[in-house]
Amino acid sequence: MLDSFDRTISQIAPAKINLALHVTGQRQDGYHLLESLVVFVNFGDKISVKRADADAFKMSGPYGGDLPSDGNNLVLKARDMLRKLFPSYASPVAIHLEKYLPIASGIGGGSSDAAAVLHALSVLWGIEIDPEHMGSIGLKLGADVPMCLHGKPLIARGIGEKIERIAAFPQLPMVLVNSGISIATPQVFAALQKRNNPALPDMPQFSTIADVCTYLGETDNHLFAATTTLNPAIGETMEALHVTVPQLVRMSGSGATCFGIYTSDEAATNAASSLRKNHPTWFVVATHSVKEGN
Ligand code: C5P
Repeated sequence: MLDSFDRTISQIAPAKINLALHVTGQRQDGYHLLESLVVFVNFGDKISVKRADADAFKMSGPYGGDLPSDGNNLVLKARDMLRKLFPSYASPVAIHLEKYLPIASGIGGGSSDAAAVLHALSVLWGIEIDPEHMGSIGLKLGADVPMCLHGKPLIARGIGEKIERIAAFPQLPMVLVNSGISIATPQVFAALQKRNNPALPDMPQFSTIADVCTYLGETDNHLFAATTTLNPAIGETMEALHVTVPQLVRMSGSGATCFGIYTSDEAATNAASSLRKNHPTWFVVATHSVKEGN
């Protein structure tokens, strides 16, 4: 039997989906004020950590070759930040990142990886960090990291760090699609035509998929126009999703990944099959969001 000292701690870093994303203002430092309804899905990267004689970092998976393995990688930034804060706990560690989420694609891959590393290393190193402190550590790594630390349906406000969890939220069958476009988020924010849009409308109780889609119909992703101006090919992704007749089609984050919401897992699986058949080189995943409550 493995001694607990030798154990490997593995954690899924799920994709983050901005079901709605309203840009409501801009701070003095240039960061934008947002209101976003966010869910996480049961598909993502995988992080494994294990004690080692010396620090090591390995990447694998379909997108493992597309990332830097130097200090610019958010996984290593997360490790180094935790080590700096808790030097006496932080023995050398081998980290393995299995990358299944496309890079720079609006579904929070890097932020979710960083959040998973913070969780996994705090367990491995035996550090107790209260959620508020963990959130502030995460925020230093990126505006989306605090929400990824939750991994459950939520509303994010501020620049993304003010989190309000949603008590009840149904599981949403979804398909995620990316035609291979990487987007630089800062360019999208810089290209915004309007920064003072209305806040999200008040939220009702969400019991069914239809409740969510009706509400989402009154909302938007305010980054979409800027992303499309920079990358007109996104129109093709949206159109391909529309052909599968989902309840709603939208882009997540600053793109370029778009998603469809369906009435059942079976409908999502069928939609993904036809999308894959028509676009064999695209990233296409049938999944569903992680629900909250009963
Ligand atoms: O915080 P993160 O590094 O993920 O953000 C990437 C970039 O996106 C920022 O440097 C900024 O240009 C832009 N951004 C923003 N407002 C936000 C989040 C990100 O302007 N709320």
